[in-house]
Amino acid sequence: MKQAKHNPSDSSIFSQPPSPMIRRTCYLSARHLHHHHHHHHCSLLFSTTSPEPPKFHSLKSIKMEGANEITREAKENVNQTKRKIFVAGATGKTGKSIVEQLLAKGFEVKAAVRDLAKARATFSKHGPSLQMVVADVTEGSDKLVQAIGDDSEAVICATGFRPGLNPFAPWKVENLGTVNLVEACRKLGVQRFILISSILVNGAAMGQMLNPAYLYLNIFGLILVAKHKAENHIRKSGINYTIIRPAALKNEPPSGNLVMEPEDTLYDGTISRDLVAEVAVEALDLPEASYKVVEIVSRADAPKRTYEDLFGSIKQK
Ligand SMILES: NC(=O)c1ccc[n+]([C@@H]2O[C@H](COP(=O)([O-])OP(=O)(O)OC[C@H]3O[C@@H](n4cnc5c(N)ncnc54)[C@H](OP(=O)(O)O)[C@@H]3O)[C@@H](O)[C@H]2O)c1
Repeated sequence: MKQAKHNPSDSSIFSQPPSPMIRRTCYLSARHLHHHHHHHHCSLLFSTTSPEPPKFHSLKSIKMEGANEITREAKENVNQTKRKIFVAGATGKTGKSIVEQLLAKGFEVKAAVRDLAKARATFSKHGPSLQMVVADVTEGSDKLVQAIGDDSEAVICATGFRPGLNPFAPWKVENLGTVNLVEACRKLGVQRFILISSILVNGAAMGQMLNPAYLYLNIFGLILVAKHKAENHIRKSGINYTIIRPAALKNEPPSGNLVMEPEDTLYDGTISRDLVAEVAVEALDLPEASYKVVEIVSRADAPKRTYEDLFGSIKQK
């Protein structure tokens, strides 16, 4: 198994010599990727011919136009309807990059934010494709059901607790908050969930208990344990997940090439937040990314590989 190379110039707390790690050997069977298209049902009633903002036809007038008319109109609307992705932690550093990359790829985004004023200042480009909803992931799944609504086809979670006075904040955000999001998806039938987690979440099983990063992050509110528990909840939920575990995050633009490894493999290294965001956005539509946990880092000496190849090389467990 490949091991991360130690770079002495890294100031990262993710650095510790390797120890033997425990590898799980149980493999679950492959499941299939299902996309959700329930939002197309409502778009049936939108007018496509008017240059003005979409208007609702009355049901009566559609009936009078006849079945062929409805079929043609529905088809046009399917082509026009952008797919909407719900992003939790959208005003965070990785979350913002995820939102920008989704918009650049032609998705609509429902950005879940805690503070609308901060959100307006965070995003430079405002347009109809970017919708903002106020949502705190710690306030239970029913509020999140409202926020996600029936028009989001996938959820990307890039939340991270904000250091403060509440000693339970890490547990509430990283574990309960993510569990709430998964439960909201279950209630709504949202079938795709992408989580930004972290390397070393299972550090104890990797023999990395004494890794300073593992110690530090756990003493600081059991962050890694909380994230790991949330991961396990997603894995049992039945929802098609991709859990992305990045190494230490950097704000600098991506350098080097992306390295993707199976769970419980990496214990150090760094990666740019923009590259983490790219991995999350690419994962959305790649069948190779379904039901997988991947660990990512960037390395100058790594070969450039396609996302199909990278995700394809990781086994489902
Ligand atoms: N730092 C590292 O080296 C490292 C390494 C591996 C993995 N990670 C993980 O990567 C993820 C992204 O990190 P980042 O540094 O880019 O994030 P960040 O800038 O710290 O942003 C965190 C986001 O979470 C939101 N948030 C916090 N509490 C919330 C709540 N109760 N309800 C809803 N949203 C809430 C924040 O909202 P506000 O903007 O309103 O505060 C913010 O948008 C985190 O999960 C982090 O743990 C970090």
